[in-house]
Amino acid sequence: MWDALVIGTGIAGSTTAYLLAKQGFSVLALTKTNDPLESNTYYAQGGIVYKGPGDSPELLMQDILQAGAGIVNPEAARIVATEAQVAVNEVLIEAFGIDFSRNDTGGFDLTEEGAHSVRRILHALDSTGKTIQEAAISALKKIGIEIRSSYHVIDIITLDHHTRYPQRMYLPPTVLGVYAYNQSTGKVEKLLAKNVILATGGMGQLYLHTTNPRGATGDGYAMAYRAGARLINMEYTQFHPTTLFHPKADNFLISEAVRGEGAVLINKYGEAFMGRYHPQKDLAPRDIVTRAILSEMYATQEPCVYLDIARLGKEKIQSRFPTIYRKCLDYRIDITVDPVPVVPAYHFSCGGVYTDMEGRTTIQRLYAVGEVACTGLHGANRLASTSLLEGVVFGRRIALFLGRTRESWYEQPYQDIPEWKETGTEELDPALIYQDWALLKNMMWNYVGAVRTKKRLKRALVDLKNLREDVEDFYRDARISPEIIELRNAVQTGLIVAQHAWTNRESRGAHYRLDSEEER
Ligand code: SIN
Repeated sequence: MWDALVIGTGIAGSTTAYLLAKQGFSVLALTKTNDPLESNTYYAQGGIVYKGPGDSPELLMQDILQAGAGIVNPEAARIVATEAQVAVNEVLIEAFGIDFSRNDTGGFDLTEEGAHSVRRILHALDSTGKTIQEAAISALKKIGIEIRSSYHVIDIITLDHHTRYPQRMYLPPTVLGVYAYNQSTGKVEKLLAKNVILATGGMGQLYLHTTNPRGATGDGYAMAYRAGARLINMEYTQFHPTTLFHPKADNFLISEAVRGEGAVLINKYGEAFMGRYHPQKDLAPRDIVTRAILSEMYATQEPCVYLDIARLGKEKIQSRFPTIYRKCLDYRIDITVDPVPVVPAYHFSCGGVYTDMEGRTTIQRLYAVGEVACTGLHGANRLASTSLLEGVVFGRRIALFLGRTRESWYEQPYQDIPEWKETGTEELDPALIYQDWALLKNMMWNYVGAVRTKKRLKRALVDLKNLREDVEDFYRDARISPEIIELRNAVQTGLIVAQHAWTNRESRGAHYRLDSEEER
């Protein structure tokens, strides 16, 4: 039995696990990948909001509110704006020992991204996430936190649906642990804990084109939903405007920091078009840049637009953006000379498992943090470089909250939780798995994508409900495996997104309805 079980080892999970262990709690960290470095965090390029010259918490809060298109939770924005610097200093710089890129005078080299009023973003060249993730995992290991890799959580155990005593209904739903599939032994383990922290990241793999890595299959949303937790704002799915358009590039991210440093979007005629769409031009909020790019693609009948990075100069490109430079060169695109073909791709979920400002979900002892959580910080559209920050600020808050409240934890009937019963016996049919994923990805991309209509959403709902029924049957009959666990979660999460998108008839931020008000 652990004091805290943290699911996910990206920046949010690592911060929470580290600060909990530092207060003397027993902590178990689980990751479904075979390498704890593999996470969404690892692939973040741009950076993490800090504090720029002439900056203030008020100014940062104003930018977060502005990008979020009118529905940001002001309390979440205020907390993040006031705690950003202290959290980054305490966790990333002091505890994890990260040295962010410096300028010629030895100060932090602050960069800019879309919709920020000042240069205030810390970075480690163009591989900020990799630097953070490596430092975080090594810090966790250094203080002896147990990290179990290749563990796929199947379900959260609550008093309501896993004990033999449903008469305890008078208590609010409470989490007691998880059932997790240990890929190394092929067995499902019952892992009991006094607190469970969901830090499972996002759901990019539900979409045909995404910046997210292979593991982003929406697991946390689906698990929380099945356990009865409240999810909010799931229709606000953010698309990143610029990913490399190349058949083999797998939507490699071209960081917004590139535009922050002066790169300009052009169409196939070489026209810098963003001035026609927004006064902030290439640094407009992401949803606006994404839709502008899609309009230009339709208008010019070109499958992409282009990013003119060459204007930054060869030396600056090679020293500031070495990863992007090398990656593009692998595809025979020399960004110091040639315009880079780019297209939008799914990037981030602004919604998620509802939490308060201490990371508490609507289930007792279940916390959520990072992309899987929704404090309302991002409203309808996330401000660039606030996702890593959110993980640090709220991970720290959860750890401090648990430290303050440990006296109030009461005993739970852990002895009543049954062992996992394996019921399915069938071998998985890989053709079915492949086809279900293809169906889901196409459906989400075409019907629940950057531009939505009533007709598209209606189709998505019908098709996703059918798919969910099929996959649930499949899950019941098949021998448990990572493939079926992920597929089941992905389909459930896709259906939740489609349902939220269907219910919300108002275009706002990342949820854009093309049909007229009468048609909706
Ligand atoms: C980027 O580097 O453009 C991504 C940063 C973010 O999503 O905040």
